[in-house]
Amino acid sequence: MTGTRARFEAMWADLHPVGRSPVTAGYRRFAWSEADLTCREWFVGEAVRRGLDVTVDRNGNQWAWWGDPDGGGAVATGSHLDSVPDGGAFDGPLGVVSALAAVDLLRDRDVRPVRPLALVNFTDEEGARFGVPCAGSRLMTGDLDPDRARSLRDADGTTMAEAMSAAGHDPAHLGRGEEDLGRLGAFVELHVEQGRALVDRFAAVGVARGIRAHGRWRLDLYGQANHAGTTRLADRDDPMLRLAAAVLAARESADRHAALATIGKVNVEPGGTNAIPSLVRAWLDARGDDEAAVRAVVAAVGAAGAAEPVEESWSPEVTFGRPLRDRIAGLLGGAPVLSTGAGHDAGVLSGAGLPAAMLFVRNPTGVSHSPAEHADIDDCLAGVEALATVLADLLTGQS
Ligand code: GLV
Ligand code: MN
Ligand code: MN
Repeated sequence: MTGTRARFEAMWADLHPVGRSPVTAGYRRFAWSEADLTCREWFVGEAVRRGLDVTVDRNGNQWAWWGDPDGGGAVATGSHLDSVPDGGAFDGPLGVVSALAAVDLLRDRDVRPVRPLALVNFTDEEGARFGVPCAGSRLMTGDLDPDRARSLRDADGTTMAEAMSAAGHDPAHLGRGEEDLGRLGAFVELHVEQGRALVDRFAAVGVARGIRAHGRWRLDLYGQANHAGTTRLADRDDPMLRLAAAVLAARESADRHAALATIGKVNVEPGGTNAIPSLVRAWLDARGDDEAAVRAVVAAVGAAGAAEPVEESWSPEVTFGRPLRDRIAGLLGGAPVLSTGAGHDAGVLSGAGLPAAMLFVRNPTGVSHSPAEHADIDDCLAGVEALATVLADLLTGQS
């Protein structure tokens, strides 16, 4: 384990400064940005150093292969390296670093795989730049239309196609990766826990039961720009008031339907202190156990804001398949089994019919999508150990 600790810490130290804001200590590793490209280069370097063959699929996801990719029934593990705005260090990178560390551990233990192992860095998991989460895995499964993906725009008006091209990836071939999917027999994603369930259960590692239904909607609230000092209150058409009503409705209706609703991103045009806005654009994230409850919340928010919510993404509820989940829980000696409200590429792949599972590593702060996100090194190493145990079984046992 000493070797694992040193190797894990060295990889963590290499990634530490990439895309880190000196002001907030949060990460801004948006898909296809400079910081993301540095992370992608780092992934290639770590793979090559281990003698793994790197491929990039048509959708820009990076794969590092131990064994012949076409050997049949590959076991894949990994996560993502992009981040939300001012994200923590662990959401995504913990799964990728742990995957690399687990390969080293399997080799230390002279494990001889009878099927290929793929380490993956899924592109654009957070959807922070172009709005659609898990874009890389959704494109791969066919859940995201390639024409729509190419035309998604970031805040500066750059399309995903332009951003990919500038980064050296040809966007012409985006789309369902029949061959890429056909290579895989199972996917196991390790992730920092985004809550405190493992803290409460005194466990370093848990196994995912499922992912709650969730989606993102845009509200376009139009008004009339006018002078802040001369327009009588009675004469105003101020969309900011409708945003305020929508925000309050999000909270109230989420509470009523036992769901979650968040308005965390707002653009205001023209954005002058002394002008009534002409347009307030807001994004609603809504999640819950039950699709009907989530949709009821979205309808209530739209009604309060007097705008029709535009659906930008939808992720149905996922229950990870029992055979793989039970096999992993058994291997890990009764690790707690948890559901989560956070979206993951493992959920997308599971939804597409691939046996998929997740391991969670304890997060003592319980905070995520924030610089306060954390996992202690001993728990990270417990995660690597658990992942290596699972991979050894999947790579050498009956498929
Ligand atoms: C991704 O982390 C999400 O759940 O939004
Ligand atoms: Mn995340
Ligand atoms: Mn993540």
